[in-house]
Amino acid sequence: MAAGVLRQVWAPKLLPVPWMLCGPRRCVSSNFKAADLQIQVTKEPQKKPGPSQPLLFGKTFTDHMLMVEWDKTTGWSPPRIQPFQSLTLHPACSALHYSLQLFEGLKAYKGSDQQVRLFRPWLNMDRMLRSARRLCLPGFDKQELLECIRRLIEVDKDWVPDGSGTSLYVRPVLIGNEPSLGVGVVTRALLYVILCPVGSYFRGDSMTPVSLLADPTFIRAWTGGVGDYKLGGRPSVIPDSVLELATPPLDGIILPGVVRQSLLDLARTWNEFRVVERKVTMRGLQRALEERRVREVFGSGTACQVCPVHQILYEGQQLHIPTMENGPELILRFQKELKAIQYGARAHDWMFPV
Ligand SMILES: Cc1ncc(COP(=O)(O)O)c(C=O)c1O
Repeated sequence: MAAGVLRQVWAPKLLPVPWMLCGPRRCVSSNFKAADLQIQVTKEPQKKPGPSQPLLFGKTFTDHMLMVEWDKTTGWSPPRIQPFQSLTLHPACSALHYSLQLFEGLKAYKGSDQQVRLFRPWLNMDRMLRSARRLCLPGFDKQELLECIRRLIEVDKDWVPDGSGTSLYVRPVLIGNEPSLGVGVVTRALLYVILCPVGSYFRGDSMTPVSLLADPTFIRAWTGGVGDYKLGGRPSVIPDSVLELATPPLDGIILPGVVRQSLLDLARTWNEFRVVERKVTMRGLQRALEERRVREVFGSGTACQVCPVHQILYEGQQLHIPTMENGPELILRFQKELKAIQYGARAHDWMFPV
């Protein structure tokens, strides 16, 4: 495989962000350090879900969380691993009023060797810092945050499930915490990380297809908007036609998904069909379906991994996608390949041991 694909490097450049919205570099702040971590272990550990209990996505939380506070004058406080707890927020908190909030989502997998590994966490750290810059929230050292997350997972390692298809979902969050209704760059922020043992994202197993609604009256992302930052919840679709895997390009509307990137990376190393990032429209998809050129359609993401789509409701018409009738060959191959890497059956430098 090409070294460029497998080598894990920090993205050398962040995409340009509109600094003029932020004023003169008010986002510059100190960094917090994993070496300063303070750990307070819970005195009331919760009961962990049993192996036969279904793990609904995002409903069960581990015993601990990471918390780091930021203040413009004093910078970052030392990071803390503390018992999982509710937040106390000022009612004017800017995250609640002006959506000054961002998040990430990544997973840790337990291999049959019992080693826990995070899947390409460096990409999530890059994307999180980029989101922070977009919202003029304070910056941080990506490696230090990753080390704090690693330590948090280490503390809660007994919560990492090891059933088939299970994992530990990691949710880093950064919010503006200004106790004021004035609109402006915040002088206070909170960074925290919570953990959830999870099973399948959608009901059913990884091969249960989902139906989508494509309604042009609702626009989730637009040119010049924030579709390519992880500031809210949004879906993604990747249509495939004969000998071509097509997905929309990262043109400012699409979130640079870690799983999206991984599927493109894998497909490119296989070098068996064309892999293109180009504009994909509903009309184009409709035409391709009529001409029987579509084989599989799927969505991708950390939560659902690679999820087959078998129908799309578009302008009152239920479009049937023959994903399941076609194997679905490519989806199964992607799922198998990802699983082997994530659960450590195939050593890969995408994985970060905890
Ligand atoms: C809009 C959007 N696209 C794609 C994804 C998938 O990204 P990733 O593969 O990094 O989880 C997400 C994840 O939540 C998302 O919100």
